[in-house]
Amino acid sequence: MNIIAIANQKGGCGKTTSAINLTGALAEKGRRTLLVDIDPQAHATMGLGIQRINVEKSAYWLFMGKKETRKNVTELITYVDENIDIIPSHIVLSTVEHELKDKDNGIMILFKALMNAEVEYDYVIIDCPPNLGFLTFNALRAANEIIIPVETSTFSIMGVSKLMSMVELIKLKLHHSPMVKGLVTMYDPLADFSQKMLNKIKNIFKDDIFNTVITYDTAIKEAQEKFMTIFKFETQSNGARDYMNLAGELLNQEKERLPESLYKELQKLLYSNVYSKEKAFNFYAPEASEVHVVGDFNQWKITDDSRLVKNEKGFWEQRLYLVPGHYRYKFIVDGLYFEDPENPKKESNPYGNSDSVFDL
Ligand SMILES: Nc1ncnc2c1ncn2[C@@H]1O[C@H](COP(=O)(O)OP(=O)(O)OP(=O)(O)O)[C@@H](O)[C@H]1O
Ligand SMILES: [Mg+2]
Repeated sequence: MNIIAIANQKGGCGKTTSAINLTGALAEKGRRTLLVDIDPQAHATMGLGIQRINVEKSAYWLFMGKKETRKNVTELITYVDENIDIIPSHIVLSTVEHELKDKDNGIMILFKALMNAEVEYDYVIIDCPPNLGFLTFNALRAANEIIIPVETSTFSIMGVSKLMSMVELIKLKLHHSPMVKGLVTMYDPLADFSQKMLNKIKNIFKDDIFNTVITYDTAIKEAQEKFMTIFKFETQSNGARDYMNLAGELLNQEKERLPESLYKELQKLLYSNVYSKEKAFNFYAPEASEVHVVGDFNQWKITDDSRLVKNEKGFWEQRLYLVPGHYRYKFIVDGLYFEDPENPKKESNPYGNSDSVFDL
């Protein structure tokens, strides 16, 4: 799941427009996409055609109250169109900023909610409000990529360094390093000023900028007035072309990334190094010549790690480092399976006998 926050504390630089139309473009390219609107103005929510926002189904409930009373992502999803879902915003979300800003770990709420989501999306796009408050901070922490839209029509680059320092803070304090990329918006190829600004923006972001430049296109505005993405309004427009190219760049990045399966394996490895606990196994068999322990933790396979070592009293021993959980196991003594005689906890298995079990 790629989580992309679209952030810039400057108002009107194209955050929402990019959130809506990037979502539309990714959906057109067959990617399941969830737009999470955490701007109390709820422009992205309206932009995707949701006029009446039910507060009970809004992003407010991702943040509010105690951990137990918060709703999970699945309960808040509203279907928009093929490959497009949204968690809508609501004006009450503005109260969250005030109520949660001093809470320990409040910064992780959105990240945890998305990590615990029971549905899988290819992309989650978060539309941020125009400030650097609690909600934006939550989005920056949740994201593995941050897109900073910068318009060429005004002096919009002024606030970018402040946003960048906030990302640095997240890197230092929370050990989280999202990719950060600039996106030029509302570019007018005929205006000198636009050209000058484009060069300045490229100087600031250096390599960390999308090649795609979003041009100023009235079709984009018209689509928004009709509460739809540019792809439902005018597929032949410059705006549709630009946002499709932007989605194309994101899909190219996908190819450069580790395959999902390998990524999950690495995560597991990292997790097991940090959280694993020691588990000791003993089996008394002074006459045996080889003893192994097999179970859910090693896919019931005999390997070098499953081998126990005999001590001088006739006990075979081994210590394994396992992620906490519930495990079944058995000993294999000279090729024959045995339950653990020292452990009274057992569970029956599909083969008509039982395995020893433990919780770590
Ligand atoms: N490429 C574009 N061509 C024409 N108009 C655009 C383009 N991008 C954005 N706009 C218009 O500019 C205005 C501001 O854009 P948008 O709402 O996306 O900015 P924002 O950063 O989300 O604003 P806010 O900070 O208030 O959330 C809107 O009226 C939008 O329709
Ligand atoms: Mg907006």
